[in-house]
Amino acid sequence: MSDPALPDGVERRSFDGETRLATRGPPVYGEPTDGEWRAWDPERSKLGGMFELGVDTGLTGGETVVYLGAAAGTTVSHVADFAGPTYAVEFAPRPTRELLDAAAPRPRLFPLLKDARKPDTYAHVVEADVDAIVQDVATRGQATVAVRNARFLADDGRLVLSVKARSEDVTADPETVFDDVVSTLEEAYEVLDTARLDRFHEDHLGVVATPR
Ligand SMILES: C[S@@+](CC[C@H](N)C(=O)[O-])C[C@H]1O[C@@H](n2cnc3c(N)ncnc32)[C@H](O)[C@@H]1O
Repeated sequence: MSDPALPDGVERRSFDGETRLATRGPPVYGEPTDGEWRAWDPERSKLGGMFELGVDTGLTGGETVVYLGAAAGTTVSHVADFAGPTYAVEFAPRPTRELLDAAAPRPRLFPLLKDARKPDTYAHVVEADVDAIVQDVATRGQATVAVRNARFLADDGRLVLSVKARSEDVTADPETVFDDVVSTLEEAYEVLDTARLDRFHEDHLGVVATPR
């Protein structure tokens, strides 16, 4: 079934009688499969949650992506299933080992053991004018990471960001945190849409933005 908010290569398909988001690629985290297709669990993926909630991310499929906060590859493996070249930045060595396993059968997925706060350290690898940055770092300074990496985006590119309120301040009201994040983002981006992801991820905000 096609859905205008879903990129080409992301479909709603039936797994054991349940309709679920899916991409085509080898499984990574024990998710159900059906032939070449693998279910995409929105409970384990903020981007999956955004698609499930109908957020228009602007992702169309086939685009060049920089993914910040790749961890063991749960979400970025789905991204590399439908996108073009996908640069997966993660600074923790342990999950990066699993990320390498997810990347092995995916020729378009390029893991980078790098700190997303220091884009200079991978600017020589990432091509210029990428179509999208997808970010899920869940650490303090999430908006600053997005601002520093805006240099990689094409003028009409998209930032698809997940913000975890508690990573910024465990005691603050999430709405206050989200307002602060959006105002920092506006140093480099025009924010196109925001959506609370609480149905799948408590106190998380999804943000879609484009460079200013
Ligand atoms: C919530 S997890 C990401 C989950 C992943 N996006 C997924 O859905 O499969 C956040 C990850 O961001 C990484 N991270 C946090 N700060 C980072 C930084 N400055 N540079 C690179 N990775 C970072 C953490 O090590 C962690 O693996």
